[in-house]
Formats: sequence, C-alpha cells, structure tokens
Amino acid sequence: MAERFYITTPIYYVNAKPHLGHAYTTIVADVARRFHTMRGIETYFLTGTDEHGDKIVEAARSHDMTPKAYVDHISQMFRELWPELDISNDNFIRTTQPAHMAVVERILQEIYDRGDIYFSEYEGLYCFGCERFYTERELVEGKCPDHDKAPEVIRESNYFFKMSKYQDWLIDHIQRHPDFIRPERYRNEVLAFLRDPLDDLCISRPKSRLQWGITLPFDSDYVTYVWFDALVNYISALGFPDGERFNRFWPHAQHVVAKDILKPHGIYWPTMLKAAGVPVYKHLNVHGYWNVDQTKMSKSIGNVVAPLEMIKDYGLDAFRFFLMRDMVFGLDSSFSEDQLVQRINADLANDLGNLFSRVVTMTHKYFQGEVPTLDPGTDKTLQLGLEAAAAQAIVDYETAMARFEFHKGLKAVWAFIGRMNKCIDVSAPWELAKRAASRKELSCVIYNLLEGLRVIAGLVYPVMPATARRMQTHLGLDAEGAFYRLDTIGKWKTLVAGTRLPKSTTLFPRIEVKSAIPSDDQGAPPPLSPELRPEIAIDDFAKVDLRVATVVHAEPIPKAKKLLKLEVDMGERRTIVSGIAQHYKPQDLIGRQVIIVANLKPVKLMGVESRGMLLAAVDGDNCTLATMDALTRLGARIS
Ligand code: ME8
Repeated sequence: MAERFYITTPIYYVNAKPHLGHAYTTIVADVARRFHTMRGIETYFLTGTDEHGDKIVEAARSHDMTPKAYVDHISQMFRELWPELDISNDNFIRTTQPAHMAVVERILQEIYDRGDIYFSEYEGLYCFGCERFYTERELVEGKCPDHDKAPEVIRESNYFFKMSKYQDWLIDHIQRHPDFIRPERYRNEVLAFLRDPLDDLCISRPKSRLQWGITLPFDSDYVTYVWFDALVNYISALGFPDGERFNRFWPHAQHVVAKDILKPHGIYWPTMLKAAGVPVYKHLNVHGYWNVDQTKMSKSIGNVVAPLEMIKDYGLDAFRFFLMRDMVFGLDSSFSEDQLVQRINADLANDLGNLFSRVVTMTHKYFQGEVPTLDPGTDKTLQLGLEAAAAQAIVDYETAMARFEFHKGLKAVWAFIGRMNKCIDVSAPWELAKRAASRKELSCVIYNLLEGLRVIAGLVYPVMPATARRMQTHLGLDAEGAFYRLDTIGKWKTLVAGTRLPKSTTLFPRIEVKSAIPSDDQGAPPPLSPELRPEIAIDDFAKVDLRVATVVHAEPIPKAKKLLKLEVDMGERRTIVSGIAQHYKPQDLIGRQVIIVANLKPVKLMGVESRGMLLAAVDGDNCTLATMDALTRLGARIS
C-alpha cells in the first residue's frame, strides 16, 4: 500500500473565537502535513467547525442570533484565521453541511440496522457544558472536572449505542497496536479507563429539549448527540463511503487532539467505526494543554491569548516556532510573552539569524556575492565536518518529526546551527581572507557554510515556511519544489559556483527585553549609576586589559538566580561568573564574541572562581552585552 498521510484537527466549537489552543493544534497539523510532503508523501489535511448541540444554541441565544446566523459568523472567523497562520488545509468541513449530515444519517442507520442501537429510558447526571452524561466516579467532589459545576439529574428516553459490546475488541486493538494512541501516557489513560466496564453511549437528544442537530433517520422526534455527529466529519469530509478520496486517505488517517477530548476520540470513535464496519484510524496524537502564565486560559480570567495579536507583535514564523519548540508534544506548557521573546532572541535572532547574515555577508565581502568554487582536494584536507553533521541532523530531525516530537526535531536543527557557528569561529574566515595563499581554503569554508544554510532552510520549512522561502531566495535557489524534499535537502554540494546571491537580510530582528532589573545579589556586579565617574588619566585606563573572547560554554549556577558560569576562549580558556542570567539564556551566549576585562583580580562567586568580567551596557531594565562590530581574532586587545 502506497504511503499517504491524512491529518485532521478537531473540528472546533463555534461558541467562541479561536484562541491559542486552537492555533496550536492546527499549526501542529500543518507542520506534520508539510513535513510529510517533504518526504514525498501524498497528503491531505482537514480542519473545520463543529456546529450543532446545546452549547451552540446557548451561545447564539446570548448573542441574540439564530443558531444558523451565529454558526455562519463564527465558522467564518475560523476559516479566515487559518490563512493568516499559513495553515495549508485542503478542506474545511462544517457539520451543518448537507453532505456531512447525510453521512451521519447513513452511519446511524447502518449501526441501527446491525442491531447496535437500542431505545431505553435513562436517568443520569448530565453536564450541559460537556453535553454528556457523567458517571459518579468521573466526577470530582460531585462536580464535572471540566466545568466545576454539579451536573443535573436528567430522566428521559433516548437511543443508546452498544459501546460496551466493543470494549474487549478495543482493548485488544490498543494492545496489538502500541502506537494507536500516542504518546504512551494517553494510551495508558485510555487502557486504565477500559479496566472498568464501559457504559453504552447515549446518542440522541429529544427534540423537546434540543432541535439544533441532525434528526435521527429512524426517529424524527430526536436529534443526534453532538459527538456522534462531530466525529463522523473525519470520514464525511473524504466523501465516505465511496469517494475516491476516502479510499486513498482513510487508511492513513491520523488525528490530532488535546487531552480534553481523549475519551471521545480514544473510545467512542473507534467503537463507532467498528460497529459501522469501517476500519479504524491509524494514530491518535494527543497533546497537552497550553496554560497562560501557569493558569488555565479562560475568558472569565481574561487571559485568553489571541493568535493574531501575537503575530502582529512578533511575526508569524516566530510564533509558530515558539509553539513547536516550547511545548513537548503530550505535556502541558505555560505560555508567557517573556518566554516567547527569550526564545525569539536566543534561537532565532541570535543563533539562526546571526549565522545566516554572517555567512551571506562574508560571501559578499570575500566573493562579490557569488557562491565560491569548491576545490575537492582542499575540501578533503580541511575536513570541516559540516556534511556529516548535516546528515546526522537530518536523520535526527526526520525520526523526531515523524513521531510528533517537534521540539526534538528542532533541537536537532539547532544543534547543527551551533555546529555551523562553531565552524566559523574555528576556521576564522577573516584570517584566511588576509592571505592570498589561503583563497582555496576560504572558498571551501564559505561554500560549506552556504551548503549548511541550504540544509537549515529546508529543515525549518514545515515550522517556518516563509523563513525557509526567504533563506532559499537568499541562497540563490528557486524557492519552489525540489528544495522542500528531504532527499534533495540531504544532497551536499547542491549549490552551483558562480550563483549570485542577493544581499544579506535580517531574518529575525532582536526584540527588546522588558524584564525587571536585577538587584545586587550573591556578589554580582551592581548596575552602574548613570552619573559620570571621576576623570582618570590615560595611564589608568591602560591598566585595564580588555580582550575579545568567545563564549564556549555557559550554564546556570545552582541557587544563584542572576549568575551564569561562562567558559570563554580568548586564546586561553577561563571561567567568568557573570550577573546576566536574567537577560541571557546560556544557549543564547554560546558562540558569541564578547569583550572581557582580562586582568581583573580573581574572585569567588557562589563557590566558583571568576577570572575576569564581561562588559555590558546596563540601562534601566535593559542589559546588553558589548560586542565587536565584526568578527575579530580571539584574544585581540581592545584599546
Ligand atoms: O472539543 N491548549 O471543540 P473545542 C491546547 N468540537 N489546545 C487547546 C486548548 C489549550 N488550552 N484549548 C483548546 C471540541 N485546544 C469539539 C471537537 S472533534 C470531532 C470535536 C484545542 O472548540 C485542542 O485541540 O472545544 C482541543 O482538543 C480542542 O481545541 C477543543 O476544541
């Protein structure tokens, strides 16, 4: 069977505007889709809106609108948001579409005809927020865990789906397919739930209570329970039962959802499919929750993060990158703008942005903006190791991305970026440029660095499509087609000597950090007072030995909030303790050129001997490290 990839998001309720959580899931699906396209796999990507049920009627009423007018309005907001987030969905389904409603009726009839739907009177605890009955044991202190409200006792006659009949089959299926539900913690959660007897599922609501839904094909006094309707979207959108698309893509279905809707997707949906005689999906990928500043996002708290605001302030690709890099898929994460800014500055402006502009600028400076010629002999002798490092990065990236471990995939790319930055420091092209005899070596270094950038541009494409395109254009590549294929990306020596490159550009501008000024603690140097110090003679100044150094290692010092332990290379290596932990992340510093006071008397700070001091501008809330205008030889004296 040809490998294909069908990815879906939940269809979102149209009872509120889209927020960070919806954006995250949809970006995940988009990244996964783009990644699979890069592998040369045929893909299909579905998202949409869930438009029936009590919740929607309630929301429409509160806006003084009819349900139809209301769902049209909010659904449109979702539809219009996705292009703003560079979401590449092929289809947008709405559960109020007649074609979808017809498939729901068909599935209901099929299961009814097979004898797996029965009519019965039922009294149960109903949560209107969740639109479902709860068992006593699912409640927390007598309340719905999601809505923190006691459910109401409802007694009515309804239709039930014999879900319990499929319990053993489902347990067996999950056990025989270890990655059916992933990551493992959610698989275990579903299996734990299945240890107790499964109840049958109430799949109707009497029209006396709710009219806004799909009428049951076998009883016009009832509408379909919203979940039974909604889940079917994943196959109705493919033209079930005989659409060509259904045959092509359904065997490759992967759903992405957050942990809040694990039960409907992990239990209701596979048993519904089984009962209807339809093969089950391949993987259910479950992620955790985004909280905001450690608190649950909620309209009443007023901390709902609006994706468009973030994009306006920080740029789309930076926002997409942050979401993919900072959340470990499967675990909860806390969103904060401070963290977003730190991530942009460290990983994008500093690591990637600087690397890119350094290499392109050197190509212009030393080769008039043309890709230099690579001499195979010199390449062999120099052994820069970038080709092997890139190959390793691609393998690590592909393995992680295929498992939805996006943060790991990006880490692999950034390890390679670190390797590239190091290669520049070690090979010191500015030194090679001074000697005509080193021309071949200089060409070799720059050529390999440009190749490395080409690989990076390809690998960041699923997460940052616009950045990938910009990088490719600046590498003189036609930013279409072949350069988005993983097998092509991996081919070293793709760039053609003599290709003219546009001038360098800033990929990600650094964002001003608005964090609190550190107070003097643990012996960290105090901020300078703004007034001028007493005059000194030139001889006094000459006593200060200022040197250029590169940070080769940086780590926090336990229990010292403001201190970092740095290892710098200034021709010789030494340790410096610096009070910049609240302004720079350790990984933000590695590979950076800094200016140090090299002849300061050693002091011990938090048990670490510090031999020297980093120069920085401390101004109000800001602290910015002093650095050189262009790359400079390590150990060079500043006078
Ligand atoms: O449940 N963090 O729709 P919904 C991460 N209509 N993701 C979040 C999130 C958060 N804080 N909040 C929401 C429904 N999400 C049903 C689905 S599917 C057949 C029917 C995302 O609008 C996450 O994907 O409540 C979650 O599963 C989904 O939005 C719930 O969206």
